[in-house]
Amino acid sequence: MDRKEFLQICGGSCLGLVGISLAHACVPTKHIQSTVTNNQVCILKTEFKVSEKDNNKFRKSIITKINGLDYPVVIYRFSENSYSALLLRCSHQGNELSMNGDILSCSAHGSEFSNKGEVIQGPAEQSLQSFTVTNDQEHIYVHLK
Ligand code: FES
Repeated sequence: MDRKEFLQICGGSCLGLVGISLAHACVPTKHIQSTVTNNQVCILKTEFKVSEKDNNKFRKSIITKINGLDYPVVIYRFSENSYSALLLRCSHQGNELSMNGDILSCSAHGSEFSNKGEVIQGPAEQSLQSFTVTNDQEHIYVHLK
């Protein structure tokens, strides 16, 4: 392989990867409002769909504002039957967290958390408050107690 061929192949591959990354990054975070019934919130699994046309493309997460909670909750979808639900409240001093893909960041002092609520970077030392999530064929249920 000569230099020109190498650059064409590598350049094409790199552009493809960048394109995939940008396409994924362009899916905006979906925000929904949820109401509590019997200490749980019920959310349709279809809320994770990127579009009605494509049944196989899902968002990695959605954010829901739940009546009665002072902070939003982010729900990460790992697979059809695996989710996490995390309160977007920093475990250090209570600042609201912001999402950067799979990382939850605190603008107050720089703590970072994983999409399962574990501390990646301090000063926070405790995991985020999480909620049990169960699901059936069409819904997920976030159990608040
Ligand atoms: S309040 Fe989040 S790092 Fe301090």
